[in-house]
Amino acid sequence: MTHRYTVTAMTLHWLMALLVLAMFASGLTIKALPETSAWVETLRALHRPLGMTILALVVVRILYRMAVPPPPLPSDLPLWQREIARWLEWTFLFAMVAMPLIGWGYVNALGKDVTVWGLFTLPVIAGTEKETLLVLDLAHEYIAWALKYLIGLHIAAALFHHFVRKDGVLAAMMPNRRPAGVPVAPAAEA
Ligand code: HEM
Repeated sequence: MTHRYTVTAMTLHWLMALLVLAMFASGLTIKALPETSAWVETLRALHRPLGMTILALVVVRILYRMAVPPPPLPSDLPLWQREIARWLEWTFLFAMVAMPLIGWGYVNALGKDVTVWGLFTLPVIAGTEKETLLVLDLAHEYIAWALKYLIGLHIAAALFHHFVRKDGVLAAMMPNRRPAGVPVAPAAEA
């Protein structure tokens, strides 16, 4: 039996990590730049379709997660740490669905359409009332704010597993790395 994530699970995880990083970088830079900067429109043109790509990927990830459960956590991991890990995983999945939907609604509330990579335009899911705009703007901002601390906690936990517990949990998510002391079935190496 293997204690590593599958290649598909790893690819989805690292691809989404990269995209979320790009979302934070673009979202925060848009907010920091003056509206007149030429970069603002370029970054918006990236932020919106990239966010919708995250939505598509998270649907794939949830379906894949239901079909192929992740490897078990080390059996000696305290219950409270297991509970935090489980809670964090589902919170991330929820946020990866909520953030794009809220962002999409927010753009609609501005009276604009969301176009995905110039290929198609998404249907309008929110009206242009002032209250809708305000609620969606705040929701997008507050979830992003909470998300950055949760991502920090997730990274800290991964480093704790790797450097303090040395239990192979981080290595299990790394390509071509074997978790220390955990035998990997030859079939999983292919
Ligand atoms: C996982 C997905 C997403 C993440 C992590 C994310 C993150 C962020 C962040 C960090 C900001 C700056 C927040 C602030 O300080 O006020 C922001 C702003 C914004 N986001 Fe997102 N976002 C996501 C998806 C989307 C999507 C799919 C859309 C639209 C289709 C969108 C539209 C916007 C808009 C309109 C702003 C305000 C900046 C502007 O005027 O363009 N976001 N986002």
